[in-house]
Amino acid sequence: MLDWVLLLGGSTGHGAATAKRLAKEGYGIIAFHFDRGDAKKIAMNNIEEVNNLSNGRCHYFNTNAASIETIEKYIPKIKEITNGQPLKLLLHSIAFGTTTNFFGDTPVTPRQMDMTVHVMGNSLLYWTQHLFKNNLLAKGSRVMGLTSEGNYLAMEGYGPVSVAKVAMEAIIRQIGWELGEFGVTANAVQAGITPTRALTKITDNWETWVENTKKRNPMGRTTTPDDIASTISMLLKPEADFINCSIIYCDGGESRSGNI
Ligand SMILES: NC(=O)c1ccc[n+]([C@@H]2O[C@H](COP(=O)([O-])OP(=O)(O)OC[C@H]3O[C@@H](n4cnc5c(N)ncnc54)[C@H](O)[C@@H]3O)[C@@H](O)[C@H]2O)c1
Repeated sequence: MLDWVLLLGGSTGHGAATAKRLAKEGYGIIAFHFDRGDAKKIAMNNIEEVNNLSNGRCHYFNTNAASIETIEKYIPKIKEITNGQPLKLLLHSIAFGTTTNFFGDTPVTPRQMDMTVHVMGNSLLYWTQHLFKNNLLAKGSRVMGLTSEGNYLAMEGYGPVSVAKVAMEAIIRQIGWELGEFGVTANAVQAGITPTRALTKITDNWETWVENTKKRNPMGRTTTPDDIASTISMLLKPEADFINCSIIYCDGGESRSGNI
């Protein structure tokens, strides 16, 4: 029986695909999600599948994983679930932020900026601090977050999330630098444009983005959540023990391809 993994944002998109993949491989799944309405229905179907694939070694919590109260409340529960064993993986796959421009009709507010950077960036640091302090991250554990091309490109509606991605990458680099001596590594996986619920929230033009991406991508398609799940699964292998403080691209070469 393999170790436990903790997925922040494990009910849809990249997080759900990763949960299914790792459950199939024998990992126990602990995951947070924050879904209401239609999203909740999709989430519940995915969670049922993860539960079956993991033979019930699966715990999902529908609550705001970015709140410090949640972190403090759930650390003892996580410890109980893993029986004090350190986690193999802490993955940040939360998509929850303000998607608006800096100027124009609905300029982003300070509150929206702070919230987006906290939820999509800084919250990974606070989880890592608490888990490490409680011996839930140790030799062989991985910390990972998902980033995007928006970390260095300006895009419609993406400003606040872009700032959060840059913050997350800096956080990951620093975590890997400080915890490397304990055998804990931290890396970001950069996904190409993936048609998930989060993409539909960035812009009303998301379908055009998808079509243009297919033309631009050297491999002629958009990224799928399964592509990301495979990359994460690969990074859990002992062969990846020395990969640290890096950004791993899983986008078919999209980010290296010029606009046409
Ligand atoms: N879709 C893309 O094109 C793309 C590209 C690159 C990177 N990413 C990144 O991948 C990550 C996952 O996005 P996705 O595309 O899979 O989106 P998604 O909307 O399918 O998944 C988001 C997940 O986050 C959860 N969530 C949202 N707010 C939460 C909160 N406060 N607490 C706990 N869980 C919360 C949701 O329940 C869901 O499980 C994000 O960081 C996103 O920026 C996405």
